[in-house]
Amino acid sequence: MFIDTHCHLSKEDYDNIDTVLSDNREAGIEKIIISGCTRESIIESLLFVDQYEDVYTTIGYHPSEASFTTEEDLIKLEEQIQHPKVVGIGEIGLDYHYGKEDKDLQQELFRRQLFMADRHHLPVVIHSRDATEDTISILKEFPNVVGVIHCFSGSLETARIYLSMGYYLGIGGVVTFKNSQLGDVIQAIGLSSILLETDSPYLAPEPYRGSLNSSKYIPFIAKKLSEILSISVEEVSQITLQNTHTLFDFQ
Ligand code: NI
Repeated sequence: MFIDTHCHLSKEDYDNIDTVLSDNREAGIEKIIISGCTRESIIESLLFVDQYEDVYTTIGYHPSEASFTTEEDLIKLEEQIQHPKVVGIGEIGLDYHYGKEDKDLQQELFRRQLFMADRHHLPVVIHSRDATEDTISILKEFPNVVGVIHCFSGSLETARIYLSMGYYLGIGGVVTFKNSQLGDVIQAIGLSSILLETDSPYLAPEPYRGSLNSSKYIPFIAKKLSEILSISVEEVSQITLQNTHTLFDFQ
């Protein structure tokens, strides 16, 4: 059994949501945590969690939304996170990949949502791209907040900093890619802080790299981790499920 701890579910990407979910169950995926991180996808995610028993969600405004997110959106978000199937806030964070013009807005949005997580005792799902240093220093302002660094692909040194802060690392399809350095990082740190995620519909693992990703491919990521660590897939499943339940409180 597996839980996909981070993916995106939208009618824009998948023709038939029922099929996606029945394929997941067949592949041994017992639950998925979808992420709504724009005004529209937050609403869609909340509809899906009401509709499907095995779907949970984290919601929050992505850094790329920094210029469009209003005060009203944030007031509404604070109500929306109180839905019983919202298990965290995210993905939130910093993304300097396309430039730093809106850096101040991104940081403000990030801090506002971290305050919210602190107030409501919810874990956070962090998106950090080309912004490791600022991400770490802002997270350190919120020592009571815990979470996961989604789609982690950094160095061993960075991994160790996040681990020392009590954060988990979300590992997905990238670990199966030929040139990925993630294997060495995982060999050094083990599985005690690792969560499995697909980030679908993006970043499909090998052997499906480049095609539409889906939570049903989680076993390919687990298999790769079992090879890296020379342990069984069952052990990977057991440890990562335990980590998932420690971080996210499913009701
Ligand atoms: Ni994502």
